[in-house]
Amino acid sequence: MRIVIINGQGHKGSTRMVARELAERVGGEITEFFLPRDFDEPCVGCWTCFKTDLTHCPHYAKLRPIVSALDEADLIILASPVYVYHATGQMMALLDHFGTRWMVHRPEPRYFRKQGVCVSTAAGGGMRSTNRDMADSLAFWGVPRIHRLGFAIHAGSPAGISKKSRAAIERKVEATARRIRSDAGRRHVSARNRYWFFLMRFLHRGIWRQEPDWSYWEERGWHAKGRPWK
Ligand SMILES: Cc1cc2nc3c(=O)[nH]c(=O)nc-3n(C[C@H](O)[C@H](O)[C@H](O)COP(=O)(O)O)c2cc1C
Repeated sequence: MRIVIINGQGHKGSTRMVARELAERVGGEITEFFLPRDFDEPCVGCWTCFKTDLTHCPHYAKLRPIVSALDEADLIILASPVYVYHATGQMMALLDHFGTRWMVHRPEPRYFRKQGVCVSTAAGGGMRSTNRDMADSLAFWGVPRIHRLGFAIHAGSPAGISKKSRAAIERKVEATARRIRSDAGRRHVSARNRYWFFLMRFLHRGIWRQEPDWSYWEERGWHAKGRPWK
């Protein structure tokens, strides 16, 4: 299994520890990125990707290794510590660059066959909103199966995590890894994917003819019988 981990922080703390442990338990070829080291550009709002495509983004040269790894991966792990109840700014800055890949624009069909995991750790709270920040992107890219691992570790680093919390993390990580392995290669379409696909298809066949999205769907047969998950 090809696994890509995007770390929304530059250091190897508790969040990276959980993400890495999960990837190793799933097993496969692991590629890791650390933000902002591997991508440090905020979206400038130029709309170029919406008007053309992602390859024309002014940051594409820096973005390309991450795009390639995500496109090739079977499993995508997005990992972020909770910063003021949300994913880190650098994680959100990366995800902003993929707006054009959202289901409501031009989703890449390979994403409908991937699995995804959102990992967050916090001193006390905010894992739910942080995982949601990241899960929204995975879901709108088309990823049908998304696991969420959020841990309140009551510590600032792995060394401070209690034995009890450590054991709970290991149990949850192992259960998730087992589930991912057993789902590998299976076809699945989420209700959310279906909902957004058919809503956009309905709009495209009626009033909503925005380009280049409309032609992208038309070329793939999605306005007729084609489906991105088939
Ligand atoms: C800028 C900043 C903001 C934080 N905000 C929160 C927060 O909103 N809620 C919380 O419980 N912990 C918060 N924390 C604590 C971290 O989320 C927590 O220590 C986390 O496990 C660190 O993960 P890491 O070791 O991967 O960096 C914050 C830490 C920093 C540095």
